Amino acid sequence: MTEKKYDIGLMGLAVMGQNLVLNMVDHGFDVAVFNRTTSKVDDFLATPEAQSKGDKLTGAHSLAELVGKLKSPRKIMLMIKSKDAVPAPELELYPAAAAVDAVIAELLPLLDKGDVIIDGGNTQFKDTERRTKYLQARGIRYIGTGVSGGEEGARRGPSMMPGGDPEAWPLVKPIFQAISAKVGPNKDVPCCDWIGDRGAGHYVKMVHNGVEYGDMQLISDAYWILKNALGLTNKELYEVFSEWNKTELDSYLVEITRDIFTVDDPETGDALVDKILDCAGAKGTGKWMSQLALDLGVPSTLVTEAVYARAISSMKAPRVNASKILSGPTAKFEGDRAEFIAQVKQALYASKICSYAQGFVQMQAAAKEYDWKLDCGRIALLWRGGCIIRAVFLERIKDAFDRDPNLENLLLDPYFKDAVETAQPAWRNVVKTAIELGIPVPGFATALTYYDSYRSANLPANLIQAQRDYFGAHTYYRVDKPEEGPFHTDWINVKKS
Ligand code: 6PG
Repeated sequence: MTEKKYDIGLMGLAVMGQNLVLNMVDHGFDVAVFNRTTSKVDDFLATPEAQSKGDKLTGAHSLAELVGKLKSPRKIMLMIKSKDAVPAPELELYPAAAAVDAVIAELLPLLDKGDVIIDGGNTQFKDTERRTKYLQARGIRYIGTGVSGGEEGARRGPSMMPGGDPEAWPLVKPIFQAISAKVGPNKDVPCCDWIGDRGAGHYVKMVHNGVEYGDMQLISDAYWILKNALGLTNKELYEVFSEWNKTELDSYLVEITRDIFTVDDPETGDALVDKILDCAGAKGTGKWMSQLALDLGVPSTLVTEAVYARAISSMKAPRVNASKILSGPTAKFEGDRAEFIAQVKQALYASKICSYAQGFVQMQAAAKEYDWKLDCGRIALLWRGGCIIRAVFLERIKDAFDRDPNLENLLLDPYFKDAVETAQPAWRNVVKTAIELGIPVPGFATALTYYDSYRSANLPANLIQAQRDYFGAHTYYRVDKPEEGPFHTDWINVKKS
């Protein structure tokens, strides 16, 4: 009797890995699993859920055993963390011996040409660019895929953003599209499609995460001003976010925010959210997006401000100290409370539009720089379901790119132009009120500054150019002679008025 062969192998049985495996089996695929700490393989296979899958699931206690159990061309998905790696210092190409590199090094001699390695972690796209090329040269096909949606997404349908070697895509497409979330009127459009060559999938996943940072900060700005200007209770906040979630703000993050306000601390009976230390953590994808925006010279100010907001939140002791030394305004909110709540909603919506506009501008700039063909409408659709930023709003973004696939900025689309213009008086009043009351709203404020800068035909950069030329002879161009230049002026000896 020939030994049974499995459709795909997965290494890394942490929460995401386990749930993806069960999801794959539910969709008819036979899966072999491996984990560096092999007791995890046995423990997982002994769970009632894994047991119920019968012979559709098998375990391996080594990479070689895993590889031996797979149908050809083999497909091996890595859901690994650094502790899953064994160092591979002998590999001159991978001196850092990062987790994925080390596993790839171990896998290489076990694989045949045409086999596929998939990295499903949050990997920096430059590593995926490098690995795709390295493996292509050795006849191995590589995919770096974003997988979003956390534990529940992995189990019931994540959003997936694969990029890498296009020859690998047809081999994994049936599995990925089967397990991913579905959207559309008939719930049959998979939130998974080919993103582009090499690191494109991981880049898009990084932007997803950066936009996630922006969404979370904007929701927190709304929370903070409602709580501090109006003194809303958690019950009232629950009601506000409940209402908002029935509107154009309908999204996973608004939904979970609503629910967070209902959860009590089992120990004290008080609201749990009020017991949580106000220091935000970060694993780094938001920082990457911000760093890469700086590299490209594109203004992704929402994610950058959100990263900084997390940074200042983590400075708890200095903040507590400064709060005893530095004063702010003592004014109290005066005005119509219900109207102000409605205005905060408008501020949130308009700022969110700016945040997504920036994310898409950055992806388009990256596509030029790194030579990918990105389909922005399709990316919006992939984010429509399954992932953390899933929202009804993404349908409108898809429509905008359907109307104009080369749309330079979402703000220029008639739907979003109208939405932001309608929101703008309220948005300005919220930022103004926050400033008057001394309540920080970094997301709302930076979004408004972006909007005002972007819609300004003229900015004060003429003065910056003059200063640069004055102290450093850095030269400038003239508005009245656009074809000529650069010009330099001897600012010290020139005749002054
Ligand atoms: C997802 C999430 C996920 C990310 C967490 C934590 O798409 O499922 O983006 O990939 O790791 O959200 O991110 P931070 O720790 O950086 O907030």
